[in-house]
Amino acid sequence: MNFSDDIYEIIKTRRSIRFFKEQDIPNELLEKIMENAIWAPSGKNFQNWHFYVLKREKLIEFTKVYKEFWQYVRPTLEGKLKPKIIELTGKFFGNIGNAPVVILAFSDIIPGEEPITSMGSVFLAIQNLLLLAHKEGLGTCVLGRVEQKAEAVKKLLGVEDKEFLCGIALGYSNYDKTPPAPPRKEDRIHWL
Ligand SMILES: Cc1cc2nc3c(=O)[nH]c(=O)nc-3n(C[C@H](O)[C@H](O)[C@H](O)COP(=O)(O)O)c2cc1C
Repeated sequence: MNFSDDIYEIIKTRRSIRFFKEQDIPNELLEKIMENAIWAPSGKNFQNWHFYVLKREKLIEFTKVYKEFWQYVRPTLEGKLKPKIIELTGKFFGNIGNAPVVILAFSDIIPGEEPITSMGSVFLAIQNLLLLAHKEGLGTCVLGRVEQKAEAVKKLLGVEDKEFLCGIALGYSNYDKTPPAPPRKEDRIHWL
């Protein structure tokens, strides 16, 4: 699928993708996306983001840790989502939709810096990543952090001095058709 270069269209057609083709992402494309994603603003220009790109063995190891996230996430969804959606979400926690690549996002821990500023800066780069990937015909899904397993993720990578924020699954979508994004909630912009 091709998308135009219209940034408005790129923003509005991005959806979370949870089922990927068994197709590798060319390294040059992945490098191009990552190198451009980090052109985001950051508090005090600390550029405090760190992205770890996982493929093959490391990805298999991460998938095992991510599977364990589910026991903590499931109770938070019960009664809020339809049982079918909960079942599909659980499946996604089991195999990350067979994504060929998962990127793990971390922030430097900066003494004296508001954690929310540091985290916010990384998420701005993450949104760049999601939009660039979409523009290049790739699907993505953010994999939320689970507090109880954050240390396990750090241990897996041998990272000690950074905060784990989230993962991003990346690959070619295996959906026949991506449904349009749901309408935006109306009362979210307040004009004064
Ligand atoms: C911080 C954050 C954490 C998320 N965590 C998960 C997750 O753990 N599993 C998942 O399937 N989707 C996750 N998502 C994706 C959201 O469910 C998704 O963005 C939302 O339902 C809107 O759908 P859309 O992205 O297709 O517009 C996360 C999104 C964000 C921004």
